[in-house]
Order: sequence, then structure tokens, then C-alpha cells
Amino acid sequence: MSGTQASARPIEKVNLTEKLELFHEYWSPKIVGELNDSYVKLVKLKGEFVWHFHEHEDELFLVLKGRLLMKFHNREVRIEEGEFIIVPRGVEHLPVAEEEVHVVLLELKTTLNTGNIQNERTLRQLEKL
Ligand code: NI
Repeated sequence: MSGTQASARPIEKVNLTEKLELFHEYWSPKIVGELNDSYVKLVKLKGEFVWHFHEHEDELFLVLKGRLLMKFHNREVRIEEGEFIIVPRGVEHLPVAEEEVHVVLLELKTTLNTGNIQNERTLRQLEKL
């Protein structure tokens, strides 16, 4: 038989609504899943972040609730509920949430939230929910 190897981790579904009730702080991504070399993260945003880029990692932002404004140096994009945007590696970006926004992030495990910038908003250890 093939395809019967035991998984290292139990296979469980994830309910995003339940996970979102477990935390309230902004700009603090939580790990809610992992696949291959990537994490699935959940984050609540409000206000403006910092301009930064990720030298080696692309970043996916999927908006669950609210509206995310992603600023680039030559344009801005509004990402509505049910939409996602992929920010390619090396591209400087500034996420802005005029009102509270809930976002799923999909990115390599090596991705640091503030990318090339290190300041008080940099988080090296993310909580797993
Ligand atoms: Ni980024």
C-alpha cells in the first residue's frame, strides 16, 4: 500500500473565527499552521506599520475582515475582504489599516515581520495558537 505513512502531526482543521478570539493585540502575527517551509499566520492590524522589504521571501496577505491598504513607492493597493495580494521579495511595502483588519499571512518560516528593518516592532518569536 502507498500513502499510508503516519503523519508527524495530527491532521486537524483550523477554525479562523475561533483563533481570532484568542488574541487582541495588533501587529503580532500568530502561527496557526505550517506547511513545507512556510507558516500560515493570523494577524490583526490597526494603524500604520513600517516601510520594509524582505530580501528573500514573498509574502501573501489574505484579508478576512476589513480593508488593508498596501502602500508601495509607486502606487497603493486596497485589498478588500476575500482578496489577497502577494508582495514579491525585495519590494518595499507599508501595510496600513485605517480600521481594524484581520489578515491571513502565508510566508516562509524565515520571514521576519519587519523584514530588513529591526526596531521595537520586530518580533522574533511568534506564538502558536
Ligand atoms: Ni512585509
